[in-house]
Amino acid sequence: MHVQDFLSEERRGAVLRSLRTDEGTLSRDYLTAARNVLRELVAMPDLIQRLPLERKAGGYTRNLLAGNDAVSIWAIVWGEGSTTCIHDHHCSCCFGVVSGTVTETWYRAIDATRAVPVEEQERQAGYVACMLPSGPNIHRMQNLGAGDAISIHIYGFDHEAHASSIETQYTAVNG
Ligand SMILES: [Fe+2]
Repeated sequence: MHVQDFLSEERRGAVLRSLRTDEGTLSRDYLTAARNVLRELVAMPDLIQRLPLERKAGGYTRNLLAGNDAVSIWAIVWGEGSTTCIHDHHCSCCFGVVSGTVTETWYRAIDATRAVPVEEQERQAGYVACMLPSGPNIHRMQNLGAGDAISIHIYGFDHEAHASSIETQYTAVNG
């Protein structure tokens, strides 16, 4: 598979069909399909870096690659120093790192709006992971490296029905 093909209507349709299962976007089959799509995409960093992705100095941008009423696939470009809020998800969230390093910090909620950091990992190019809304899934992603990082995200939400995958934002409290 090539990104050009992935971006063609035909290939997009095939990828989206591969992500559609009878049990929806929380099932084992769905997660397996999402990981397979991500593994293919992170294996072609040169082609992804050549895509006309929006970039924003100091911030991150989300670029919709494909979507339907069940899933959406995004390329996120992380500018140097960019960070998300601390958040969890209302849907399944699978991602793979294409280039650069994304630092992921995991948190544990102590009440409805506050969370304590429990673990920090550097996700290198090639890394693929999935998380489910049933948790644990409170995290923050940052680009602490030099230069942009790019990751691909497959979310179990309709981009026309939801603004993002974020359910709740938390404030960090040191444990
Ligand atoms: Fe997230």
